[in-house]
Amino acid sequence: MSQKIAIVLGTRPEIIKMSPVIRECTKRDVDYFILHTGQHYTYNLDKIFFEQLELPDAKYNLDVGSDSHGAQTGTILREIENVLIQEKPDVVLVEGDTNTVLAGALAATKLHIKVGHVEAGLRSYDRTMPEEINRVLADHCSDYLFAPTEKSKQILLGEGIPTARIVVTGNTVVDAVYQNLSICEGRTNPLHELGLVSGEYFLATAHRQENVDVKTIFESIISGLERVAGAFGLPVIYPIHPRSRKMMDRFGLNSTGILFIDPVDYLSFLQLESNAKLVLTDSGGVQEETCILNVPCVTLRDNTERPETLEVGSNILAGTKTETILAATTEMLGRTINWSNPFGDGSASEKIIGVLE
Ligand code: UD1
Ligand code: UDP
Repeated sequence: MSQKIAIVLGTRPEIIKMSPVIRECTKRDVDYFILHTGQHYTYNLDKIFFEQLELPDAKYNLDVGSDSHGAQTGTILREIENVLIQEKPDVVLVEGDTNTVLAGALAATKLHIKVGHVEAGLRSYDRTMPEEINRVLADHCSDYLFAPTEKSKQILLGEGIPTARIVVTGNTVVDAVYQNLSICEGRTNPLHELGLVSGEYFLATAHRQENVDVKTIFESIISGLERVAGAFGLPVIYPIHPRSRKMMDRFGLNSTGILFIDPVDYLSFLQLESNAKLVLTDSGGVQEETCILNVPCVTLRDNTERPETLEVGSNILAGTKTETILAATTEMLGRTINWSNPFGDGSASEKIIGVLE
């Protein structure tokens, strides 16, 4: 008999990376439901993906909204518990490293409901990042650890997690890219609307708390992006996360050298990524997607929990200083694009649901 699965999600990357898992559940007629915590709620970070990826509506939306870490995590924990007691799923699936993930995993394990963690075993070894705390704790209360790579499996084994709990599946981001890239063909290209030419612009995203919540660091990133635009004579386009927009307003930061736009839908972002000369980012998902799409990536951080991208050569760590951002961009543009994607063949969701069934 198949298990009843609760798919818990709450933010943009979770909706995108869980979308192939949801499709797989529908395809196999699995008994499942979606629980949305409401951590993300702005249309461009949330509903736009359900509509475009044609995902079923969440059965529950906890509408928790934004708050401090403790308050947000605590509210999700309390509210999810009510739903789990009522629904009695056999397994709760969470993906990634957000506050939604930690609260979902904790609520389930305390009710003795099995937890499946998609994207288990990633480590930046930087405990100042809220995501690092979330992923370590979620891994250690999970029963099924779906590690994207052999490296992440080895990390989990090194932390004493029994081998029987770990399955290397690849990352569901590959499934999401492959499933959706083909839909992009024949679709209106966002490049035209923005006046961009393929291969002749840079794409940027930055939203990490440790980058954009500190004025001097955010300022330095913006001036790094301006230096890159100036040095190569090409535009930088930055679909800006609401957190970053809020902090720019609060700090009184501005830039005439960067084209800021609202966050875009997934198909548009895939098109912007795959046609970019190079992408500068502090996003986890974007480091993976650029690797899959054969586009060079410069990461605006000092560390990454995606070291596979550094090893294959698709990515480089630039930190957040203006000079190092320009130097890393120059170095990446000198590299030959001949890496292969370490995150699997696009069958991660099939493997995950296969294990649970
Ligand atoms: C969260 C995750 C981060 C992930 C990111 C994906 C945590 C600790 N952080 O960061 O790991 O990379 O999502 O995008 O879980 N806001 C809106 N509308 C929204 C959501 C947020 O305007 O729909 C604004 C609010 O001002 C809010 C701020 O963004 O205070 C931060 O939102 P929050 O969910 O706390 O963290 P993210 O930065 O989105
Ligand atoms: N993304 C998107 N529109 C945008 C920016 C990003 O659809 O305007 C997608 C991107 O393709 C990737 C995911 O959002 O799949 C990454 O999410 P984010 O950077 O918010 O979170 P992280 O991966 O850092 O947790």
